[in-house]
Amino acid sequence: MSQSKKSIKLGLMLHGAGGHMNSWRHEKAPADASVNFPYFRELALRAEAANFDFLFVADGLHINEKSLPHFLNRFEPIALLSALASVTQNIGLAGTISTSYSDPFTVARQLASIDNISQGRAGWNVVTSPLAGSAKNFGKDHPEHSLRYQIAEEYINVVQGLWDSWEDDAFTRDRESGVFFDASKLHKLNHEGRFFSVAGPLNIQRSPQGQPVIFQAGASDTGIALAGKSADAVFTNARTLEEAQEYSTKLQQEVAKNHRHPVGIFPGISPIVGRTEEEAEAKYQYLLSLLSVDDALAYLGRFFDHHDFSQYPLDGPFPDVGDLGQNTFRSTTDQIKRLAKEENLTLRDIAFRTTLPKGEFFGTPEQVADTFIRWVEEGGATGFIISGPVLTEALDDVTRLVLPILAERGYWHPSTEAKTLRERLDIPFKTNRYANKSRAYQSEDVAAK
Ligand SMILES: Cc1cc2nc3c(=O)[nH]c(=O)nc-3n(C[C@H](O)[C@H](O)[C@H](O)COP(=O)(O)O)c2cc1C
Repeated sequence: MSQSKKSIKLGLMLHGAGGHMNSWRHEKAPADASVNFPYFRELALRAEAANFDFLFVADGLHINEKSLPHFLNRFEPIALLSALASVTQNIGLAGTISTSYSDPFTVARQLASIDNISQGRAGWNVVTSPLAGSAKNFGKDHPEHSLRYQIAEEYINVVQGLWDSWEDDAFTRDRESGVFFDASKLHKLNHEGRFFSVAGPLNIQRSPQGQPVIFQAGASDTGIALAGKSADAVFTNARTLEEAQEYSTKLQQEVAKNHRHPVGIFPGISPIVGRTEEEAEAKYQYLLSLLSVDDALAYLGRFFDHHDFSQYPLDGPFPDVGDLGQNTFRSTTDQIKRLAKEENLTLRDIAFRTTLPKGEFFGTPEQVADTFIRWVEEGGATGFIISGPVLTEALDDVTRLVLPILAERGYWHPSTEAKTLRERLDIPFKTNRYANKSRAYQSEDVAAK
């Protein structure tokens, strides 16, 4: 086995029974998965044993009757990650927190706590909250798309500033002299910005990885610009290698503009693997049988702020909805509109393709392994986050059927040395901005993937 090739990085998205809208109905998933902690613990331990790099808990802040069943009744990410931190040893622990509906001091503190509890394994997926209904749960107005990203940028700066409140060796804890900390290594933030006013310092130390890893998944131009400034790694919903390459080129250009280390790219994928193509097709047909037309229309509608697509003829062309979607999941709704136009698809086609895409990660273990390798070799991905369709089955299939092939071909040799999430993902240690400015510059700039 060759060790010279890139080792593919892997994450597992813990969202209930899986990304398929009705994964809770699948014979291999517990129907109450979203609130079943023993189930999450089991998945986490299996992913860790298989040497996955991280777990990721997604989140949203608005539901209605048309939401995915998993969204109706689920754990809050920080709570779930804290529980998982205490039963795992090596695997990274990332979760979504919204910058539009939370406050930076509290969030900095919560994430730093998880980072310390897990000894340097925490990550934060920064989202701006696409759904307008979220605002009503916080007594606010929903900021418009570009304003949300401006808030997010200042928010991240504040959180990262707070995380540097204490230099790594600030707590001397000298019993003899009675000196608990070195006052010269304590830094107040004193931030007065457009959206936030935060004095600091934060009341918790940095972790073995310096600061939690910043993930981001916005893929509009504004979202990519923010990722270029502050993300260490990104999630993308690219459907094809071509889309993944296009996204990756744009992102790395933004990253280079900001003189930062290259950013890890993790497409969210839902592999459907069979020992034969027929077996993969049978799995797909079973998944399809768990979806009604109404389900598919509701799934599609959510991306457009829960727009009611049942008002249009199902077998007519995908309706012209104008600018709808620009203020929600902008990149996803642009992608849907583009696909409908390019391939002249009906509303029914688009609803099912969006809800249950067959995608490029479909087929025999060899075919799926080839796709993993092609996406990584041809600049579409650093690794992948497995998000479905049904987690128990996808994790099992990838681990048992695909990883041995990747290992054989030299693309799966995960580090057994890496302790922190940064080490696992080849992201440099985050040097404290106050410690030594020239060292901080080098550690971020020189360490390449
Ligand atoms: C793998 C993956 C995970 C995501 N997780 C979340 C999430 O937990 N919460 C959320 O609101 N959006 C999530 N998103 C969506 C994006 O964060 C973002 O909101 C969406 O792409 C719209 O951004 P844009 O307007 O910049 O295109 C995820 C996207 C992907 C591809």
